Amino acid sequence: MVRVRDLVMRLASGGRPVTVLDGVSLQVETGEVVAVTGPSGSGKSTLLGLVAGLDAPTSGTIEVAGVDVTRLDERALARFRRETIGFVFQAYHLIPTLTAAENVAVPLELAGVGDVEPRVTALLAEVGLGARGHHYPAQLSGGEQQRVAIARALALAPPLLLADEPTGNLDSVTGEQIVDLLLALNRERGATLLLVTHEAGLAARAGRVVALRDGRVVSDRSLAAAR
Ligand SMILES: Nc1ncnc2c1ncn2[C@@H]1O[C@H](COP(=O)(O)OP(=O)(O)O)[C@@H](O)[C@H]1O
Ligand SMILES: [Mg+2]
Repeated sequence: MVRVRDLVMRLASGGRPVTVLDGVSLQVETGEVVAVTGPSGSGKSTLLGLVAGLDAPTSGTIEVAGVDVTRLDERALARFRRETIGFVFQAYHLIPTLTAAENVAVPLELAGVGDVEPRVTALLAEVGLGARGHHYPAQLSGGEQQRVAIARALALAPPLLLADEPTGNLDSVTGEQIVDLLLALNRERGATLLLVTHEAGLAARAGRVVALRDGRVVSDRSLAAAR
């Protein structure tokens, strides 16, 4: 599902060049769950953003679902992101003036999908929020807001789910529940899951843990007895 080769990302930070990713190679098979760990600043978010086509690397190749992401023009990239990637962020990024149901409806409406209402109802039920669709984000707990964000990410049934510290703003019990939900979605939908977390206990729930440090992969371990 994901093939990253020799990925290098250099950025200018206050006029000085910084090497954020320094030759990362990573292969993720369809249906796999991979946790990406590493200290703050090790390049985890940058890696996820590149896989999602949100940014272009300095060098290296990124293939997602058979597509070379680095060769897509803006239009093709927008379509790739919409159809292939579901992105979940630490800070939820819901639209505060829309209800939970309306937030989930956004990608469906942008894609011109018909029959939005029953789809939204099913998505909210799938993330365990059947009764909260009419609530606004401010009326929901952090865990509930993250569930809405996950339902929105799933709306167009992307084969690849990218989650960047999705439990970072949540207490440990709620964080566990969100990881449980992501793992259930991987099992039930077969969606490949790339999960960034610096919590070792959560990372250990994945089948495989890739550790970054200073923009390099320093370990890549498969866990036989995961979950
Ligand atoms: N747009 C940017 N400009 C300059 N430096 C950046 C930019 N984005 C990230 N960085 C730097 O790259 C490094 C890795 O960042 P990031 O990928 O966010 O790490 P992580 O998610 O592992 O905490 C950090 O040192 C950060 O300061
Ligand atoms: Mg980060």
